[in-house]
Amino acid sequence: MTLKRFGVSLEQDLLSDLDRLVERERFPSRSGAIAYLVRKNMVEAKWENDEEVAGAVVIVYDHTNLEMHKEVNAIQHNYHCLILSGQHIHLDDHNCLEVIAVRGKAYKLRKLSSKFKALRGIKHVDLVTSATNI
Ligand code: NI
Repeated sequence: MTLKRFGVSLEQDLLSDLDRLVERERFPSRSGAIAYLVRKNMVEAKWENDEEVAGAVVIVYDHTNLEMHKEVNAIQHNYHCLILSGQHIHLDDHNCLEVIAVRGKAYKLRKLSSKFKALRGIKHVDLVTSATNI
């Protein structure tokens, strides 16, 4: 991809913030940080506009709760069209972590995530938002 150069004018405080961001997140340069922020903004817009997006639903639950185990499985079968793959990790004697890679319209992925949140006794649910073409 061709790189284009352009001049950026920022207030001193904002430039200092940018440099702190570059250092904290270990971006290779200010350009790298700006490119990251632009793409992050594009991904957020895709989710806001209910476009086709990708991401992951991360859940933690106690597998000794057999009803929970069944429900987690049933939800994934009901939404198989949105699910690309799933990874199950046994964290300890009780806790399971599942990372479920998803792709589809943003509102459908949010709905899938909320199905897990609605389960009584689920310990953690998070929706990692990314995109397919950025
Ligand atoms: Ni497990």
